[in-house]
Amino acid sequence: MKVLITGGAGFIGTKLAQRLIADDHSVILVDSLSPQIHGDIPDYRPPEGATFKRLDVRQLAERTDLLEGTDVVYHLAAETGTAQSMYQIAEYVDVNGMGTAALLEALAKLQKRPARVILASSRSIYGEGAYEAPSRPGQLIHPRGRTREQLAAGNWDFSENGEILQAVATPEHFAAKPSSVYAATKMAQELLLTSSCESLGITPVLLRFQNVYGEGQSLRNPYTGVISIFFNRARQGLEINVYEDGKESRDFVHVEDIVSALVLVMKADVAPGSCYNVGSGMPTSLLELANTLVSASGTTAPIRISGDYRLGDIRHCFADISAIRRDLGFQPVVDLNAGLQRFVTWAKSQPEYQDLSDKAAAELRERGLAKV
Ligand SMILES: NC(=O)c1ccc[n+]([C@@H]2O[C@H](COP(=O)([O-])OP(=O)(O)OC[C@H]3O[C@@H](n4cnc5c(N)ncnc54)[C@H](O)[C@@H]3O)[C@@H](O)[C@H]2O)c1
Repeated sequence: MKVLITGGAGFIGTKLAQRLIADDHSVILVDSLSPQIHGDIPDYRPPEGATFKRLDVRQLAERTDLLEGTDVVYHLAAETGTAQSMYQIAEYVDVNGMGTAALLEALAKLQKRPARVILASSRSIYGEGAYEAPSRPGQLIHPRGRTREQLAAGNWDFSENGEILQAVATPEHFAAKPSSVYAATKMAQELLLTSSCESLGITPVLLRFQNVYGEGQSLRNPYTGVISIFFNRARQGLEINVYEDGKESRDFVHVEDIVSALVLVMKADVAPGSCYNVGSGMPTSLLELANTLVSASGTTAPIRISGDYRLGDIRHCFADISAIRRDLGFQPVVDLNAGLQRFVTWAKSQPEYQDLSDKAAAELRERGLAKV
């Protein structure tokens, strides 16, 4: 098949391209090589066998030639920093929204259109994940995000009628309640695709990724990727600041498992607009993550549970992956310990980047968006 990947020079796009080339597909990568990811002077080299075009996705409507004859399009190009999106609002809306619009306009202009567009969406669109009250098992609760006052008082958890709510797996039918501009733009991408693709004769498929990590993830972007941020700090012997009480959790899924899901959905017999969570299905606390990463890195960086917080951060979310398991036979195979070991081995072979996470945190603090 002929496959085009927007954002194809990024972390997930590169791994996907390598896999598709190995499977004998013809692969075109479109990417602007954003300086935040690739540095001011990018030293990017496309995987052997891929065709690469440096282009802003927002210009795609004028470059329909790139999409001629494609069978499948993966739409991955995006600005991805949740916290950064809270002040670079126009930029996030523009790249993620207008980028998707430009892709759709380009598709509308084609004589022969690809059969399928697959979107890299995000669990962030749920906002908080699903919870249950211990006295009412099976009844999913969707709390509103925590207020500034709750966070300032260290009221990290949610409670109802005196009961602390327990996080449970979040299913796809859970309502969207984006709590960041980034999340709102991912939601917009989903809506743009599902509202227009069918009339163009294209099957849109949405994959909602949890926190993706692994070899090849950006080590220089201080705005996203907690594993890179913790690793960079551990490597330089800097203190690791674990926010809140360290018990907040995320679902970390290895990029190899994400690529498996992306490849499975390329050919699967799915209805237009199908939407699947992709994650490990397991929550891991940020403190557990910091401890595992420090020990895998072989460093002695101090870990501090600081009680700091960022507005808009969720407390818990982990994926219910029963739908993708049932429909596509998806099964995550890389457990977190093995995956972190692989990540650390790779990351140690990379140049040591100046740690900019303090600067990123200060930007939030100065705007009143965090206590750090
Ligand atoms: N990594 C995760 O944890 C995660 C989780 C949920 C969803 N996602 C989604 O998966 C996709 C890929 O994420 P990633 O982790 O590979 O991120 P990444 O930052 O490594 O890759 C994104 C790529 O998009 C490119 N890009 C940015 N703006 C562009 C523009 N205007 N035009 C063309 N290219 C542009 C960047 O140069 C980069 O190469 C994104 O859509 C992201 O929202 C990622």
